[in-house]
Amino acid sequence: ELVMVSVSLLAFFVRHKSPAVFVELGGNVTLPCRLMHRDIISFGTMAIRVKWIKVAEDEALNEDVLSSMGPHKNTYGSFEDRVFMQELDSDDASLVITDVSMDDKGKYRCEIISGVEETLQYVILEVESGVVFPYSPHLGRYNLNFTGAVQACEEQDAVVANHAQLFEAWKGGLDWCNAGWLSDGTVQYPINRPREPCGGSKNGPGLRNYGRLDKHRLYDVFCYASSSNGRFYWLVQPDRLTFDEAVQACLDDDAEIAKVGHIHAAWKLEGYDRCDAGWLADGSVRYPISRPRKNCSPTEAAVRFVGFPDKTQKSYGVYCYKAEQ
Ligand SMILES: *[C@@H]1O[C@H](CO)[C@@H](O)[C@H](O)[C@H]1NC(C)=O
Ligand SMILES: *[C@@H]1O[C@H](CO)[C@@H](O)[C@H](O)[C@H]1NC(C)=O
Repeated sequence: ELVMVSVSLLAFFVRHKSPAVFVELGGNVTLPCRLMHRDIISFGTMAIRVKWIKVAEDEALNEDVLSSMGPHKNTYGSFEDRVFMQELDSDDASLVITDVSMDDKGKYRCEIISGVEETLQYVILEVESGVVFPYSPHLGRYNLNFTGAVQACEEQDAVVANHAQLFEAWKGGLDWCNAGWLSDGTVQYPINRPREPCGGSKNGPGLRNYGRLDKHRLYDVFCYASSSNGRFYWLVQPDRLTFDEAVQACLDDDAEIAKVGHIHAAWKLEGYDRCDAGWLADGSVRYPISRPRKNCSPTEAAVRFVGFPDKTQKSYGVYCYKAEQ
């Protein structure tokens, strides 16, 4: 019974002690692990083995990630050629994972085996999934060179999406027939319902990829917004507003007019739903629908785009955003 108690205590300890590391989908991440008894043994020697394992709920389903003995390294399965040991110094057994996918999420164990001694270190990898959205500025479709694309996403409190993020969005149903820049300098677009004007109806669903293009060329962009700590909301007030009045109304509420990244993040990550068209900071008017219904995006859950109306038009409300202190 004593053994039972200590095992569950250990399990408790491990579960609560494991540090977590966060990474965006498609990014690179380092899972820390260090050799502890530096004075006794050193890491470059053949006598020390390091194994990285991805630990499953059921230990029988554990996956080998990497093994290392001196200069000999092996990587396994879906991790093959995608992971390496950082080895910044002779005590550093940290694991670098590149191009992180959703499947990489989970708990990892670093085993350092030296003679009869074995030390185990655990780390949890959290993969953050934000929201990808296509963006074109008020000038209209295909007006952004690569630099302009980077800037356009920044102005929406977002970044240019990477391939893994667009791929994940495509798997989630994103279908968009305008090509946009990605962070690696390629131009792509996601198609779930193949049709003639969107890369051909005979090609299957997938990402249509123009490859890496001259950065002067003009396309739209796919932006990526992660969840934020701020609050996105519809400002309840009696009148319809011009754009300038909308900006001021949010300021008067101790907030700012919301950006396109904020409305997409709130829609996707919080299920925000409101059938009222409101001004946003870039001068566009949109509304977020997560429960499709008559007169409110009846066929799909989406952030609906009304347009870039005349800014003096008094026809809309406003969405505001309050950053957390
Ligand atoms: C991730 O690492 C790989 C290989 O070291 C590198 O080519 C790539 O640019 C890195 N990606 C990011 C997003 O830093
Ligand atoms: C990109 O477009 C901006 C205007 O949006 C322009 O000022 C800049 O010179 C362009 N850069 C390149 C590399 O084409």
